[in-house]
Amino acid sequence: MSTLFSPVALGPLTLENRITIAPMCQYSSEHGLANDWHLIHLGHLALSGAAMLTLEATAVSPEGRISSRDLGIWGDEHAAALAPVVASVRRHSPIRLAIQLAHAGRKASSRVPWEGGMNIPLSAGGWQTVGPSAQPYAPGDTVPVELDAAGLRKVLDDFVDAARRSAALGFDAIEVHAAHGYLLHQFLSPLSNQRTDSYGGSLENRMRFPLEVFKAVREAAPGTVAVGIRISATDWADGGWDLEQSVAFARALRRAGSDFIHVSSGGLAAQQQITVAPGYQVPFAQRIKDETGMPTIAVGMITQAQQAEEIVASGKADVVALARAIVFNPRWPWLAAVALGAHVQAPRQYWRSPREFRHLYPRMP
Ligand SMILES: Cc1cc2nc3c(=O)[nH]c(=O)nc-3n(C[C@H](O)[C@H](O)[C@H](O)COP(=O)(O)O)c2cc1C
Repeated sequence: MSTLFSPVALGPLTLENRITIAPMCQYSSEHGLANDWHLIHLGHLALSGAAMLTLEATAVSPEGRISSRDLGIWGDEHAAALAPVVASVRRHSPIRLAIQLAHAGRKASSRVPWEGGMNIPLSAGGWQTVGPSAQPYAPGDTVPVELDAAGLRKVLDDFVDAARRSAALGFDAIEVHAAHGYLLHQFLSPLSNQRTDSYGGSLENRMRFPLEVFKAVREAAPGTVAVGIRISATDWADGGWDLEQSVAFARALRRAGSDFIHVSSGGLAAQQQITVAPGYQVPFAQRIKDETGMPTIAVGMITQAQQAEEIVASGKADVVALARAIVFNPRWPWLAAVALGAHVQAPRQYWRSPREFRHLYPRMP
């Protein structure tokens, strides 16, 4: 019996297997609106057999976008553009849908990756960024405006509005983006948060704003929607955010009603030193799961069926998330099911495929 293909609960949400698709920015929107790229991209991933598909980092405000091409959810027109995409996926797939709500903070106003991803200064048509402190990500980047009380209130309200819109659209889960050096992570890390008020200094103070946002999102979403968070477990940099602090944060999140935690790493500091290897972030997920008991999603260079099976069967994490491997091969869960003697749900229209190739895939339905 495969554990990877057994059900698991993330709070109110039951997934039929342990494979989820990680959020992946598409940088394909105009004015934050979903379009036919999102339909085709999310549509094909929805037929993958994974249990849950998480939409890309979706900006809660225009200034919170990484680039001008990011997907957004700050207005009714954004919800209206996403609605037919969600409806199409629902019509043709049982996959559960999550949305990642995001604010880029000081890493906003950037070029899309295929144009280099650099910061766009105000003088070249960029926009004013905000952050916990007036400290840029890299020397020469736009200096962010330090958020004051009104600025913090606006960010919180934007997350709440976004959560309400997401719930109204029928998303099964909301993932608050507090990873990869974006705004909420900037509050957590002592490398980017130099505040002297109650939002800076001690660990408790640095966690304060991300926790306020999380609690407000949790409150804004109905109890039937799973609400969780994505964190970077470490900055991979001296004097930065680390696993010990992540454990403390995870404990506080658990108390705040977090239904899951998705454990990534890095992205905050230009001087980060990461040693990347298969499953390199799994030990972070394992430690957080062991210490908090919160349903935990592991991510990062999980590419093989047996590898994924071992992670969940040995209890290192409850769920795995795949990004690049499932873009490369959107039938990854089908093949993993073959390898592990399990089954995935496939659309009726494709049922001939495994039958025709029974000699190759003897265990497919
Ligand atoms: C094209 C692309 C876009 C990404 N966009 C996001 C994003 O919107 N939000 C996020 O938290 N991580 C994002 N990531 C990181 C992935 O979710 C994932 O954590 C990372 O790629 C490691 O997993 P992998 O080894 O399976 O690719 C992105 C990664 C890729 C390759």
